[in-house]
Amino acid sequence: MSVYSSDDKKITVRDFQRKKEAREPIAMLTAYDYPVARALDRARIDSILVGDSLGMVALGYDNTLPVTMDEMIHHCKAVARGASRALLVGDMPFLSYQTSPVDAVRNAGRFLQEGGMEAVKLEGGREMLPAIQAILEAGIPVLSHLGLTPQSVHKFGGMRPQGRTAEAARRLLEDALLLEQTGVFAVVLESIPARVAKLLTERLSIPTIGIGAGLDVDGQVLVTNDMLGLYDRFTPRFVKRYANLLEDMNRAFEAYRADVQARAFPSPEHATDMPDEEWQKLQEMLT
Ligand code: KIV
Repeated sequence: MSVYSSDDKKITVRDFQRKKEAREPIAMLTAYDYPVARALDRARIDSILVGDSLGMVALGYDNTLPVTMDEMIHHCKAVARGASRALLVGDMPFLSYQTSPVDAVRNAGRFLQEGGMEAVKLEGGREMLPAIQAILEAGIPVLSHLGLTPQSVHKFGGMRPQGRTAEAARRLLEDALLLEQTGVFAVVLESIPARVAKLLTERLSIPTIGIGAGLDVDGQVLVTNDMLGLYDRFTPRFVKRYANLLEDMNRAFEAYRADVQARAFPSPEHATDMPDEEWQKLQEMLT
């Protein structure tokens, strides 16, 4: 018997395809730790991406390039312990798949074997086909990522929208079709014009997951720390704030400091006492 009720049915890559065909939008968010993974699963988010955005929003790096495989695996393990319903996708960090198809398979395998993930994501189009093919042949589902691919930040000269010329948009479409033919189960489209994302979504039979790509895609993904207002160093224009947790945290920390300074915390209900007779005994022992 399944451990899931019909509402809590485990989401797999097959559900992504079914949702595209049924025109049911796919909701994806990132997580990097156990409590957030639990909260996303409870909110019935379809898929959790342990993104290499980890590097910026949780580890404090300037961009995603310094993130290592070991850092990713450490955080994937925590997320996998917190979520049982969502499809879990691990993001392959810079140089974990670009160097050779052999490296790509070995590192993708670590996400499943050690990290508890169920699929991997990697950035790039036609130039990544040999690596993607090798990973797929090892039985590992692949989510592709086109458009603004943050690991190429220096090639782009900054975090700039992509696909804004006819030639660039045609190349994106060609790449997406090649990725589909190779067998990826979906493709993330980041920061590209909404009408280009719509065109790709119409031409592809696999789902498109947009981030800064407008409404006419098959699903959406955001960096959770951005949408919760937990990361204030840089917020892309396409992020919608659903909460302002930095402000909430700040208020809580200041209230705590004020309580400590005023000796208002802990109050009796937060403290432990001992029976009077034991206290009495202690007094006698000490006299
Ligand atoms: O690393 C990440 O979180 C991502 C998403 C923004 C798609 O790649």
